[in-house]
Amino acid sequence: MKPTLRFVAAWLAALLVLVAFAWLAVTHTTRTWFEKDVALRAELAVSGARRALIGGLETRDTHGLQELLTDIVRDERILAASLCNTDNRPIVATPDFPRTLGCAEIGPHLHEDDALDASAWTSWRKFTELPGGDVHVSASPLIGGDHVYGFVVLVHDLSFAARREASTQRFLLITFLTLAVLAAIVTLISVRLLWRNWGEALRRMASGDDDNRRPEFIPLLKDMRSLLNRLAQEENAEQHGGIWSPQRLKLTLQRHLHGERLIAVANREPYIHNYNADGSIRVLHPASGLVSALEPVMRACSGVWIGHGAGSADRETVDARDHVRVPPGEESYVIRRLWLSKEEEQGYYYGFANEGLWPLCHVAHARPTFRIDDWRHYQAVNRKFADAVCDEADSDDPVILVQDYHFALVPKMLRERLPRATILTFWHIPWPNPEQISICPWHTELIEGLLGSSILGFHTQFHCNNFLDAADRFLESRIDREDFAVIQHQRRTLVRAYPISVEWPNHWVDATPPAAECRAAVFADLKLPADGRLGVGVDRLDYTKGIEERFGAIERLLEREPHWIGKFTFLQIASPSRTLIERYAQLNRDVEKLVTRINGRFATADWQPIVLRTLHTEPPDVFRLYRAADVCYVSSLHDGMNLVAKEFLAARDDEQGVLVLSKFTGAARELAEALIVNPYDLEEASAALALALRMPPEEQRARVRAMRQQISEMNVYRWAGRMLLDASRLRAREQMAGLLAAHRQSA
Ligand code: F6P
Repeated sequence: MKPTLRFVAAWLAALLVLVAFAWLAVTHTTRTWFEKDVALRAELAVSGARRALIGGLETRDTHGLQELLTDIVRDERILAASLCNTDNRPIVATPDFPRTLGCAEIGPHLHEDDALDASAWTSWRKFTELPGGDVHVSASPLIGGDHVYGFVVLVHDLSFAARREASTQRFLLITFLTLAVLAAIVTLISVRLLWRNWGEALRRMASGDDDNRRPEFIPLLKDMRSLLNRLAQEENAEQHGGIWSPQRLKLTLQRHLHGERLIAVANREPYIHNYNADGSIRVLHPASGLVSALEPVMRACSGVWIGHGAGSADRETVDARDHVRVPPGEESYVIRRLWLSKEEEQGYYYGFANEGLWPLCHVAHARPTFRIDDWRHYQAVNRKFADAVCDEADSDDPVILVQDYHFALVPKMLRERLPRATILTFWHIPWPNPEQISICPWHTELIEGLLGSSILGFHTQFHCNNFLDAADRFLESRIDREDFAVIQHQRRTLVRAYPISVEWPNHWVDATPPAAECRAAVFADLKLPADGRLGVGVDRLDYTKGIEERFGAIERLLEREPHWIGKFTFLQIASPSRTLIERYAQLNRDVEKLVTRINGRFATADWQPIVLRTLHTEPPDVFRLYRAADVCYVSSLHDGMNLVAKEFLAARDDEQGVLVLSKFTGAARELAEALIVNPYDLEEASAALALALRMPPEEQRARVRAMRQQISEMNVYRWAGRMLLDASRLRAREQMAGLLAAHRQSA
């Protein structure tokens, strides 16, 4: 039992004993008082009528005696009266006098010799209670001079005493209860004042202003000091200590979260096993910003990545627990593959996630579609992934990374089953304003699901604000705008901006030949003249990437600066993506048509302006292209971050090349030295391409160097490290609040 409850129970028990004791005492005392009072009244009544009674007896006036007794019982509290002689025989009685009550039962039974002796009667009185409690009988002697005439018996009604007792007891009870409530209020106020004094004393002691340490605070103070030290260390840990590296990230996880094993939940797996035509198996690295960012984090920290096993040879390559150790050849973490039926994949991935949420969150003019069946699959698949997390967790407070819009419901599902878990959720795409998110029929469920997280991350503060506004508008919750947190059911979810990034140094870059070599190989492959210029675009074939607008800008460049005809080639790598969705199939057709038209307009016998390669391209080839190019154009119409921009810069250790970057990407907020454009504005975008192609090497160097510096500092290890440190700070704060609450209860 809690100390406060123990105190209240003891207080109530003491109060009950006190009330019972007072009750008995009051009942006994009032009853005695009333009996004495009645006995006195009987005495008065008899002595008042004594002379007349003696007269009546001497004259044997039975009728007069009867009237005298009738006069006595006129008193409302005297019910009946009887006159008995010294032989204990009745002389007269009022009509109501109980027949069962004879003079013999009441009389003094004196010895014959004493029966007429006045002195023997003087001290005799009788006052007794009849069965039933409310009726008493009194007997008083009738003495005149030395002569005894007999005795008068009166029957008294004491029911008034019971009524008075009841009202006294009621009054007593009310008085005690009022006193109890007053005492409780006074106690509470005193405890509060005491707690405030203690709090103040604690604050002074913790800040070192007070040297008079109170012994009861010493253990609490020790705990608080160590938590505060931890907070201060974590505050510094992110800023100081140089560039973030895999080792530093691992150390942060061990030191601040006592964990060595992360559990990541992300739909797309980082390594896909596919069958080749000859039956052999090859490993594929999917084109995904999420994978580019999270994979190095998992390599650094170790743990398990729970993802959808979508490869044709995925089942072939797992063990009995559906685990496969990766990266191939340098195993440092595990992929746990979950298998989805065709219907599940259709409803959850293609339907709800990519025909509903994806267009809803991107301002790219594709209408979202929401179907109830897709929603049901989305819920079921989220449950399936949450089950897998619980299955993989080896403690009750694991560190779980939930990734992206595929799993908005997972954080809440996990919170219900693992209340002590640290759940870090990252939403890799934009979060729209409240009006827009409310288009989704299940927007409150999505927001509530995400609020199961300890920390919810977005790329930009703008998206955080949109989320806070939505939580404020659609949920019963409290928004702490100073701390950027949502408080619901007494739980706090921090909503923070963590701009995602790439690994630094980049392991693909380390394995890529020098720029000149790459350029020679790519130029040879594309059959470009040595003095030609190369632009590149690398994207999933997605309508949010602005690929049509990009080609429009190239067309406009060739119109306004025709001297680039025959000299400038743009190579577009477009990885097929979500091809079962009609909007993507349509995009594929539109892009191909557009390229055919532009190429048809400008191509020469041995040159074409746009080379479109609609095929999956592995990272080593992509990094070779980055190194070979003069310009990289990222023209997204809306993009959470866009890591192609950062990978291009990571690849350029020769500090050459120009990045033309859409202002609608998260990356544009960090990479100020890029040529920032509005991709819809073909004049501006084509002018930027022209500027890029003319840019002197020194200017390229200055810009690339500044941006590389930025990315090296804000690399993906820092992205993950910041979230882990914030989570650790949150845990420390919660522990401190718990300590203070426990101390307050025991005080
Ligand atoms: O950049 C991140 C991202 O857009 C994710 O949100 C998405 O999961 C991924 O790239 C690629 O999409 P998919 O998983 O559908 O291939």
